[in-house]
Amino acid sequence: MSIQEFENKCFKELNFLYSDQEINSLCKYAYQEYFGANWPSEILDKSQEIINEKQELFENYLNQLILGNPYQYIFGYAEFYGLRLKVGEGVLIPRPETEQLVDWVLEDFATQDNLKVLDACCGSGAISIALSKHLESARLTGIDNSEQALEYAIENDKIHQSNLRCIKQDLFNFKPKVKFNIIVSNPPYVRDLEKKEMHLNVLGKEPHAALFVSDNDPLVFYERLRYLFNHYTEDHAVMYLECNQYLKQDLIELYSPQFIVESRDDFRMNFRMLKLSKKQ
Ligand SMILES: C[S@@+](CC[C@H](N)C(=O)[O-])C[C@H]1O[C@@H](n2cnc3c(N)ncnc32)[C@H](O)[C@@H]1O
Repeated sequence: MSIQEFENKCFKELNFLYSDQEINSLCKYAYQEYFGANWPSEILDKSQEIINEKQELFENYLNQLILGNPYQYIFGYAEFYGLRLKVGEGVLIPRPETEQLVDWVLEDFATQDNLKVLDACCGSGAISIALSKHLESARLTGIDNSEQALEYAIENDKIHQSNLRCIKQDLFNFKPKVKFNIIVSNPPYVRDLEKKEMHLNVLGKEPHAALFVSDNDPLVFYERLRYLFNHYTEDHAVMYLECNQYLKQDLIELYSPQFIVESRDDFRMNFRMLKLSKKQ
């Protein structure tokens, strides 16, 4: 199979799931992954045959994509905040929007020492492992109720030596023994009614418990986080939350009576984040 034939096959067989622009990107990711340092010179002449040892990799990649697997699951990793994190079935692929939440925490706290940080609903550990690279003296705790997600967090912690304490814990029963300076969380926040807006491979392959909340009670995680912020944080603590773009007003109503509320949009210009500080 030549490079051109691989691309043609991708366009023919993936158009039920992806746009042309997305298919172009998926081809590029495969070249980067499988040709490594030889990319992009390796694909200048698209009539060139893909060497035998690599054919199988490209074929398997396409077959996995046809089955709806996200390319990060196929490669076994995702890039987040300049780090390579292991991911696979059962754990949410960390998103670029979430990098902006990390940015916000670091803008405020990068120069402070000995912080106690809770990453509530930590998944792969993306947020806390990224923070650990910049808050070197921080004590980081990550909780998640998914065994599978925590296995990835533990592995990522080992690879990146982030000293993250991973605890299998339901957020709704969590009673920490320490008081935190920072809570950061990207909890499930997509309402069932928004499923129709989502990419089929997200719906089909990523864990639903990581994403969805019921239409009737979409703020359930944010209410619990408010309780934890009230009861298990130090006086000048701050909480940073990734949020549903459609629920800005409801969230402001939930938090503003008690806390100073600041909001930010993501790089797509959708409302995405809140920062809550205690009124002194
Ligand atoms: C949107 S994902 C975020 C993962 C990670 N923080 C990130 O940004 O990539 C939400 C996470 O919440 C976890 N989760 C769902 N319900 C939970 C609960 N009741 N208690 C603790 N974690 C929960 C899921 O397993 C999932 O890993």
